[in-house]
Amino acid sequence: MTFVVTDNCIKCKYTDCVEVCPVDCFYEGPNFLVIHPDECIDCALCEPECPAVAIFSEDEIPAGMENFIQLNVELAEIWPNITERKDPLPNAEEFDREKGAAVGSSKLEHLER
Ligand code: SF4
Ligand code: F3S
Repeated sequence: MTFVVTDNCIKCKYTDCVEVCPVDCFYEGPNFLVIHPDECIDCALCEPECPAVAIFSEDEIPAGMENFIQLNVELAEIWPNITERKDPLPNAEEFDREKGAAVGSSKLEHLER
């Protein structure tokens, strides 16, 4: 079992999650973070820390976001590790559904690799 970063992280990247992870298993792309499924110890500490409500347990992924399980697997292999919190992306709130942004059901088109 692992936790998974999903859609609403894209273009927000608040990084509060990184700070609490005891095994440093977050990996960072230009505008999204992922969790390495083989390193995550399933502690659940990161889930409530994300202001964008983007982190879910693998078995509780919202319908329609199942593709993020594989995306975390793939991108954790190629992106660098991140172990310290940093500033969110500029305009994060404009792309944050939790802040009322009308960004549709998927922000995948904005994902930068
Ligand atoms: Fe790290 Fe725990 Fe979150 Fe897994 S569940 S990514 S180990 S904080
Ligand atoms: Fe992304 Fe939430 Fe972490 S927006 S960077 S998963 S705190």
